[in-house]
Amino acid sequence: MKLNIATIYGSVRSDRQGIRAANFFIKKLTDRKIETKLIDPLKMELPLLDKMYKEYKSENAPPKMKAISNILTHADAFLIITGEYNHSIPPALKNILDHFQKEFFFKPSAIVSYSAGDYAGVRAAVHLRAILGELGTPSISSMFPIAQIQNNFDIEGNALDSFYDDRSKRFLDELIWYTEALKSARIKGVPY
Ligand SMILES: Cc1cc2nc3c(=O)[nH]c(=O)nc-3n(C[C@H](O)[C@H](O)[C@H](O)COP(=O)(O)O)c2cc1C
Repeated sequence: MKLNIATIYGSVRSDRQGIRAANFFIKKLTDRKIETKLIDPLKMELPLLDKMYKEYKSENAPPKMKAISNILTHADAFLIITGEYNHSIPPALKNILDHFQKEFFFKPSAIVSYSAGDYAGVRAAVHLRAILGELGTPSISSMFPIAQIQNNFDIEGNALDSFYDDRSKRFLDELIWYTEALKSARIKGVPY
């Protein structure tokens, strides 16, 4: 089954480190012949939330929002890359998620968290899981926490320890299982 998994990353800092994890997973998805597009708030310059996308008539929606909505609509699942800011998710990530709604419904998601220290962003990951549930894109059981991201991945997204390559196999196998299962189920219809 041909699959499309959107990668969503939420830091706009000039010295951002999480792009290493985003690049790592884009390569892993591409290696598996899964289509993926990166939703990068730094490049897409989405303003802070005023109106949600659904509040615009489609001809009046800002082009940047329309472009992101298109990526989300065509995706069968979402891989969310979150850093940890004061024990929660970065504001740019929350801002992307808050703009959209039905684009997420009845599709699975998976959480990759990271931090500069040893806790690997897991406190943000737990918050993110609750947000994704509310958005209608429940996250898979496995998470992919990365400690000291700056020391474990290069900027192109290569893991400096093969441990991460090995661990990513089971994580992506699980996401793909749910992605195929829910894609098949959506073809038969959705409850609302
Ligand atoms: C505003 C802010 C708050 C942070 N809070 C935490 C934190 O609560 N826990 C943690 O482990 N690291 C924290 N950090 C350090 C981040 O883990 C580290 O800067 C990481 O690289 C941020 O992701 P980014 O580089 O992709 O923006 C914080 C960083 C910033 C900028």
